[in-house]
Amino acid sequence: MERTFIAIKPDGVQRGVMSEIITRFERKGFKLVGIKIMIPSKDFAGKHYHDLKERPFYKGLCNFLSSGPVIAMVWEGEGVIRYGRKLIGATDPQKSEPGTIRGDLAVSVGRNIIHGSDGPETAKDEIALWFKPEELVTYTSNAEKWIYEN
Ligand code: GTP
Ligand code: MG
Repeated sequence: MERTFIAIKPDGVQRGVMSEIITRFERKGFKLVGIKIMIPSKDFAGKHYHDLKERPFYKGLCNFLSSGPVIAMVWEGEGVIRYGRKLIGATDPQKSEPGTIRGDLAVSVGRNIIHGSDGPETAKDEIALWFKPEELVTYTSNAEKWIYEN
């Protein structure tokens, strides 16, 4: 089953919206298979955002990601990569639709509270960066037969 990497950034943790974010993924029907809290080093943040190295905001972004606790998660479900991005909303909260996490809970692009993998390759790489295989669990939830037709 498809998996994606989702992180609640330091602003989301400090603002006390982590349970709200988890609830939105959970109520949709996605399944949590990995979760931990950590303060990433600047070096680690740089690895996570390596594709943005040339952007002017890269240094500030890496400093910010390592400025406090992050909730790192892996969520599983049919279409979770693409639909997870829909739940999250557009990168700039000024452009995110109401009803999305960033639309409802954030205001500024540099403080947009959550990260989600943007495709299957990124999801695979980010999960491998943030989690050891043994930190992820495989299980069946009783709700699954009510969530999926097959
Ligand atoms: P993530 O899920 O966090 O990866 O966001 P995204 O995929 O919607 O956007 P992208 O990967 O392009 O950018 C990563 C992060 O960099 C964003 O979530 C923003 O926090 C930050 N960012 C992107 N564009 C800007 C910008 O123009 N200015 C600033 N200050 N930050 C930006
Ligand atoms: Mg991105």
